[in-house]
Amino acid sequence: MRIFFLLLVLQEFLQPVSTKHLVEKATNETLKIRLNTPFFKFFSKNGHHVVDEEIPKITIPEIRLPFSTSIGHGVVKTDDLKIEKFNSPKIDFNISNTGIAWCTSGGAIKLTGKWHAKFTELITVRDKGWLNAYATGIQMNISASAYQLDGQPQVRIGECTVTIQKLDVEIGGSVLSWLVNLFETPFSKLVKQVINSQACTAARGILLDEANRFLHSLPSHVDIGANFYVDYFLTESPHATNQYTEFDLAADIVYGKCSCHPVKSGNWTDASSSPGMVTSWISVSIPNCLIESAHQNQLVRFLVSKDIAIAEPYLRTSCGFLGLCIGKFFKKLRTEYPNNHVDMYFHTYNTPFFVMSEKYGVMLNMSLAVDLFINPYAKTKQNILARLVVDTFSDVEPYLNHTKIHGHLLNSTITARVDFSNIGDVSGAFLSAFSSVLSMTARQAVKSVLGVGIPIPSYDNVTLADSSHVEVFDQYLRTNIDFEYK
Ligand SMILES: *[C@@H]1O[C@H](CO)[C@@H](O)[C@H](O)[C@H]1NC(C)=O
Ligand SMILES: *[C@@H]1O[C@H](CO)[C@@H](O)[C@H](O)[C@H]1NC(C)=O
Ligand SMILES: *[C@@H]1O[C@H](CO)[C@@H](O)[C@H](O)[C@H]1NC(C)=O
Ligand SMILES: *[C@@H]1O[C@H](CO)[C@@H](O)[C@H](O)[C@H]1NC(C)=O
Ligand SMILES: *[C@@H]1O[C@H](CO)[C@@H](O)[C@H](O)[C@H]1NC(C)=O
Ligand SMILES: *[C@@H]1O[C@H](CO)[C@@H](O)[C@H](O)[C@H]1NC(C)=O
Ligand SMILES: *[C@@H]1O[C@H](CO)[C@@H](O)[C@H](O)[C@H]1NC(C)=O
Ligand SMILES: *[C@@H]1O[C@H](CO)[C@@H](O)[C@H](O)[C@H]1NC(C)=O
Repeated sequence: MRIFFLLLVLQEFLQPVSTKHLVEKATNETLKIRLNTPFFKFFSKNGHHVVDEEIPKITIPEIRLPFSTSIGHGVVKTDDLKIEKFNSPKIDFNISNTGIAWCTSGGAIKLTGKWHAKFTELITVRDKGWLNAYATGIQMNISASAYQLDGQPQVRIGECTVTIQKLDVEIGGSVLSWLVNLFETPFSKLVKQVINSQACTAARGILLDEANRFLHSLPSHVDIGANFYVDYFLTESPHATNQYTEFDLAADIVYGKCSCHPVKSGNWTDASSSPGMVTSWISVSIPNCLIESAHQNQLVRFLVSKDIAIAEPYLRTSCGFLGLCIGKFFKKLRTEYPNNHVDMYFHTYNTPFFVMSEKYGVMLNMSLAVDLFINPYAKTKQNILARLVVDTFSDVEPYLNHTKIHGHLLNSTITARVDFSNIGDVSGAFLSAFSSVLSMTARQAVKSVLGVGIPIPSYDNVTLADSSHVEVFDQYLRTNIDFEYK
């Protein structure tokens, strides 16, 4: 049932957590998710695997029929009546502005069990035997919708109707055939009635169980790694049409006690002629909030010190005539701190940001401060020697990997400048001699930022199909996603 009910759960998951949220953040939707008709087709088509598994688990309660005749009275009851075989029905669905309705047809069930009867005339006689029931042409219509109760999402099963075209009950194994004759017809009729009424009870039970299991496993507070979380909540009620069901969401980025509220930017276009199963629109402000939080919490930082073998010779404050080291460019370093090393501490200088453009793609503008200290930095960090700034501007290609959107670094323009110096003039010769150390580290910083992905809601054994893709528009991304089973 799991996959089958993803659609329910998505609705659950995206319910507003509280009306407070709804009021406070009503206009900041930065993420839109649209479930298109092919999505419902996919899950309805594959739903039968789950149905096949769940239906045989249904327990049929004991069926008991008292009966009396002019000569005495008795009782007959079923024992251990079980679903032995279940043939998948055809599952169809209908989405409309009122919710989702499933319609199954062609189902067949075989039940087997035993019966026991007791009849009292002058003395009491007992008999027992077996019972088989075959139900074919089962048609069931169920509708479902989501609502919220005390801030918690809940599922409501709406109408459920069942018709069983043909139901045969076979009773056998008896020794006292006169006894069976007394109850056979009304007992068969009762068994039919129970099976009929049990179908909807069971369907409701399975639906609710599965939905509740989902609700417990799908928090709206999603861990995206490195102690970052995304809090998703609906900014308004989902709206449904006969083509899709659409959800407008806000996505707050949470890191520790800080949270960043992305604001809407860009004008979202339509879904394109091949919308896929799920179309989503993601505002540039979501990755920007992520990177802003990372900057404010000083998470983008690198220390280049003598422990890095290839950098070590460059970081020396003293070197020979032919050597190339930092001491060569600064008299103050070689005289005041001879035979030592400099540590270069890289961190974001101001808030980095992404720019998205239909024409130029995704770009990342990030400036890094490079603070110079005498090694070891941990002890000398009160005494900054100089600060350089490395400005990076990178072309980024967004791509989908598993269920996350990541970025590939294409081209970067990297330039270095001087912010201030307490150790004398920083020459152009120094900047060019150190350009490879600076730009290699800056690229590393850019890559580390791009490595954090934005998750796309997904479920269980479903993976993204190759036909899924991301497109860049002015200040937002649009993903057209197809699922497949692995
Ligand atoms: C976004 O939400 C904040 C509250 O979190 C609100 O103060 C602000 O006005 C909203 N901005 C827009 C553009 O709706
Ligand atoms: C889907 O539901 C709508 C509204 O309940 C109804 O008008 C329409 O006929 C249904 N479509 C199908 C294919 O059952
Ligand atoms: C289920 O719905 C379909 C289409 O709306 C209808 O033809 C069928 O009779 C319904 N079946 C039951 C058991 O209500
Ligand atoms: C969105 O559309 C409005 C009105 O058409 C326009 O003023 C605004 O600049 C557009 N925003 C972007 C980011 O394209
Ligand atoms: C990067 O951002 C800074 C600060 O907003 C701006 O001055 C600079 O021009 C931007 N760089 C590019 C290449 O757009
Ligand atoms: C895709 O994600 C997996 C883990 O989910 C990771 O191991 C792999 O390196 C990623 N591949 C790319 C190209 O990002
Ligand atoms: C990278 O830069 C080179 C030279 O500036 C340019 O020719 C090329 O098109 C750029 N590639 C991408 C993917 O932007
Ligand atoms: C997912 O696949 C694994 C292995 O194929 C299986 O054991 C597990 O039951 C599947 N989960 C669901 C919910 O179908």
